Amino acid sequence: MRHDVVVLGAGGAGLMCGAAAGRRGRSVLILEHARRPGEKIRISGGGRCNFTNLHTSPADFLSQNPHFCISALAGFTQHDFVALVESHGIAYHEKTLGQLFCDGSSQQIIDMLLEECRRVGTEPLLATRILEVSKGVDGFVVATDRGSHECRALVVATGGLSIPKTGASDLGYRIARQFGIRVVPTRPALVPLRFDQVLLNELKDLAGISVDATVSCGGARFSEALLFTHRGLSGPAILQVSSYWREREPIMVDLARDADVAAVLDRARHEHPRQELATALGRVLPRRLAQRIADKSGAAIRLGDLSDRQRDAVVRSVQAWRVVPSGTEGYRMAEVTLGGVDTAELSSKSFEARTVPGLYFIGEVVDVTGHLGGYNFQWAWSSGHAAGVHV
Ligand code: FDA
Repeated sequence: MRHDVVVLGAGGAGLMCGAAAGRRGRSVLILEHARRPGEKIRISGGGRCNFTNLHTSPADFLSQNPHFCISALAGFTQHDFVALVESHGIAYHEKTLGQLFCDGSSQQIIDMLLEECRRVGTEPLLATRILEVSKGVDGFVVATDRGSHECRALVVATGGLSIPKTGASDLGYRIARQFGIRVVPTRPALVPLRFDQVLLNELKDLAGISVDATVSCGGARFSEALLFTHRGLSGPAILQVSSYWREREPIMVDLARDADVAAVLDRARHEHPRQELATALGRVLPRRLAQRIADKSGAAIRLGDLSDRQRDAVVRSVQAWRVVPSGTEGYRMAEVTLGGVDTAELSSKSFEARTVPGLYFIGEVVDVTGHLGGYNFQWAWSSGHAAGVHV
């Protein structure tokens, strides 16, 4: 079978690319090994898909080349995607910080993309195993367990390594290496962080507690919710900072970002000298956490007996907690994969490989990773569209 374009992977980027290429009259075949297309869209955003972010800008993405994403994000913006969503009559709302979610279900986004593909005469061939990709006489040959397909342009949209049970695989990276294209080392990102057993024993009673925190690491800083878990830390602030964290590095945590804990303690010391430290901390922290910090501080129990040095130590443990995670929860729980196909190998306009004409890489398989909050899907839409209008 011969097609103008074969797309590998029916996730957000692949479907977007297939529809855009089809609109230009290209014959498109989308190959997918899973039984369902867009599985990560389906499970995203708690089933409601945080499909973009109103404030998307290149600053929201990590890559060895921070400028690489500029062209694609400008060529198909968050507003273009919102217009597409509206044209399909899908109701949505802004939850927080510019994050847009479906009012109904993430399946609506999948159905929308499939409908866009159908309108141009293509739909993904599911449950198809890709056996081999090779150079053909005029393009590429993709051998599958359901026959071989020749194409002039081959678009690799196989995503990253996170959540293997959704169909994630390393095929995209293998194809890159097969054609001599560099791959930036990958690692799990937007992922919970773990504690070693000693720290876990100390903090396990805190599991389930959530606070509004500011977390910083590797020059990045995020003010969002933080959650103590049975294995370490999670919540949006931790997922965000995990993309910047590296082994053996500390993260700095302000557990009461909206409070001036020193001022709170000074006032309480003055007004209620017989009050317990834990009670005063309870004004700015959940009760269990306040008690834990008071117990651990070794400071006087009554505020009236608290020295300035002890007060400063307590303030530090609340607002400048330095903690060294022992690792991440890995690809099993990561939302995305950092690293991937080196952007230096690709055109930022078309996503075509510089050294292999006709071969394209889009979406998460490329070394561009968004922050938490709808940015990663916007990257899938923008990069998919950019390649779709060039193939
Ligand atoms: P994606 O992984 O979506 O698609 C790749 C496709 O290729 C898959 O269908 C896969 O089965 C297929 N494939 C892989 N290997 C293959 C092979 N060997 N042969 C054939 N097919 C193969 N982002 C966001 O912006 N907002 C959000 O709310 C969320 N929420 C979220 C929740 C969870 C639990 C996860 C894991 C991730 C998110 N994300 C997110 C991230 C987002 O899902 C992700 O960045 C995009 O889905 C990436 O789109 P791609 O199309 O590049 O890859």
